[in-house]
Amino acid sequence: MTYPVDMTIKPEVQAFFDEATNTITYLVKDPASNSCALIDTVMDIDYAAGRITFDHADELIHQIKSQGLKLEWIIETHVHADHLSAAPYIQQKLGGKIGVGSKITIVQETFGKVFNEGTEFERDGSQFDALFEDGDTYMIGHMQAFAMYTPGHTPACMVHVVGDAAFVGDTLFMPDGGSARCDFPGGSAEELYDSIQKVLALPDETRLFMCHDYGPGGRTIAWETTVAEQKAENIHVGAGKTKEDFVKFRTERDAQLAMPKLIIPSLQVNMRAGEVPTDKDGNPMLKVPVNGL
Ligand SMILES: [Fe+2]
Repeated sequence: MTYPVDMTIKPEVQAFFDEATNTITYLVKDPASNSCALIDTVMDIDYAAGRITFDHADELIHQIKSQGLKLEWIIETHVHADHLSAAPYIQQKLGGKIGVGSKITIVQETFGKVFNEGTEFERDGSQFDALFEDGDTYMIGHMQAFAMYTPGHTPACMVHVVGDAAFVGDTLFMPDGGSARCDFPGGSAEELYDSIQKVLALPDETRLFMCHDYGPGGRTIAWETTVAEQKAENIHVGAGKTKEDFVKFRTERDAQLAMPKLIIPSLQVNMRAGEVPTDKDGNPMLKVPVNGL
């Protein structure tokens, strides 16, 4: 696959860090128009209380309105297991199309079973407005963006590239954080290694924007780096580490990781493009499958 890289396009990128889930949401603006896109939004949840709120999303909406922007896309890099998407809430207020990778159907099939969803839960990705295939392009104002299929963390992961900026989702973390886990159903360390090589094949000066940062070793939270820095310094895949090294390390590490705190609500909501499921009376309701994950 040859991707339509165009380093002359330089989007304006604003980052919004969510402290509760260590997620970074990006507002990506076309410098030549008022068009913009959002990547990986967050809906707030107090899971212990079963309470959902929208402080993070309201801030994004406020920014878009106060800057006079037109929201064209609400992109999910993948079905997140550690936070809930606010895509439908934002779409209702500002419009825009919700897009995700076409392999979402595999994730819906897998977790439709885990959560014992009925036939009313469509497993065809129809909850989303756009399903991206590898190499698909789309426009944000005058900027052409494209999606790169990057499975490994999940089978539906995509990296989105807009000019000289790439939004890597859960592939790479900052160089001192390494890479994302691969032990969820449908994950694969071999595939993640190959996907990361696709990202590292972008031009050296490509700006890379992380989906998460945990500030390893107590350093200040950070989210932006470059292909050149990742190639030289990434602790899991940089400096010439082999695929064999990576797969062995990743597999051993993943075996020791606990489940993300919000995986149960996150999957149920995110596989529905951010809609909270409802019970037979139409009330918002989440399930907990016992020993199901
Ligand atoms: Fe993730």
